[in-house]
Amino acid sequence: MPVSQNPISIQGVSLESISRKFGTPVYVYDGEKIISQIETLKQAFSEVPLKIKYATKALTNVNILKLVKRAGAEVDAVSIEEIKICMEAGFSAAEIMYTPSGVNFREVQEAVELGVMVNLDSISLMEDFGAAYGNSIPACIRINPHIMAGGNEKISVGHVQSKFGISIEQLTDILVIVKKFDLKIVGLHIHTGSDILDAEIFLKGGNVLFEAATNFPDLRFLDFGGGFKVTYKEGDPSTDVHEVGRIVSEAFQQFCTKYGRKLELWIEPGKFLVSESGYLIVESNVVKNTPQLTFVGVDSGLNHLIRPMMYDAFHDVYNLSNIDGDQETYNVVGYICETDTLAKNRKIGKVKKGDFLVFKNAGAYGFSMASNYNSRLRPAEVLVWEGKAHLIRKREEFHDLLRHQVILDI
Ligand code: LLP
Repeated sequence: MPVSQNPISIQGVSLESISRKFGTPVYVYDGEKIISQIETLKQAFSEVPLKIKYATKALTNVNILKLVKRAGAEVDAVSIEEIKICMEAGFSAAEIMYTPSGVNFREVQEAVELGVMVNLDSISLMEDFGAAYGNSIPACIRINPHIMAGGNEKISVGHVQSKFGISIEQLTDILVIVKKFDLKIVGLHIHTGSDILDAEIFLKGGNVLFEAATNFPDLRFLDFGGGFKVTYKEGDPSTDVHEVGRIVSEAFQQFCTKYGRKLELWIEPGKFLVSESGYLIVESNVVKNTPQLTFVGVDSGLNHLIRPMMYDAFHDVYNLSNIDGDQETYNVVGYICETDTLAKNRKIGKVKKGDFLVFKNAGAYGFSMASNYNSRLRPAEVLVWEGKAHLIRKREEFHDLLRHQVILDI
């Protein structure tokens, strides 16, 4: 008999007990899953000196970062705030890569003062950086390799019309600035998109890096970015990271021989580390029959999980309170005053008011993209670790909504 993909417990802790103890909506993370994903990547790239730079933006809770550190990975941060959160979690400046996109130079200076490596994302930033630091601070350059990759248009970021990186066609301009300021470029970076299924895409990006790299004598690493696709539903394929590891490592080793020195190979997974570790548990508020559809309205919405509305992302959902019961077809919708369909046309165990529903793949870009829209409170976060459920973020309370409002005497 096939094992159900829908857990009722994590590490022996029942999801129902977590829902009752901490209330809903609640994000729940399986710490062991995160560790095992890191181990899988280490194995897949065991032939090369690998650095895993977790893309913190996917899920930034300090406790998750601590787990990532404990498992031997480092981090990629995209804002000064992410850098500071990583430091709060115990990462040293040397373990943090800062990959900003179009930020004010003051923010870059702050990162440099903290001792963090900067990934230069534009010619203009290279010039400011060169004028300020010359060759005294090593840096990395983000190349846009002109590769169309990723699950959908919004998360494809390495193509010719993307705002990210410096076009590979501008390599000559890059080299002029490097020379002008005697910049010490120790890394080259690409990140072409998210939800990239095809292993060959990583090699394609690698080939762009290898070719550009021969112009930079001081390199210490090449950074292949993130983007490994995970499974969103039964039968849905995920990136074969072992194949990526095999083909990329082989090409990388050949490149290093040609380059004349052994470099480090960096990757920046976000979803791969945390997506499947996370669950969003909600409660059904209403079951609503209409002439054409049956809706389940839950105590959450696009304010907590924006991916379905923003990217048409598929998040599997099941009825924890009626896991083996007869199935019916529902649209699971949120309580936000917008069309916030979280799951469309899904067969799940018959739902009644008060049932707990669970959304899967909620670890990456779930809580980290949550908002207070409709003046709703953001959920609690719970980490299951060593067989125990730990509260790692309190549910917001009403006063949090007013905390930064300045109330005038009018
Ligand atoms: N490195 C860089 C420079 C990135 O910009 C990203 C993600 C990653 C690594 C990690 O990519 P991942 O392994 O998670 O695919 N909110 C969207 C995804 C946006 C990704 C932004 N950059 C979503 O929920 O699908």
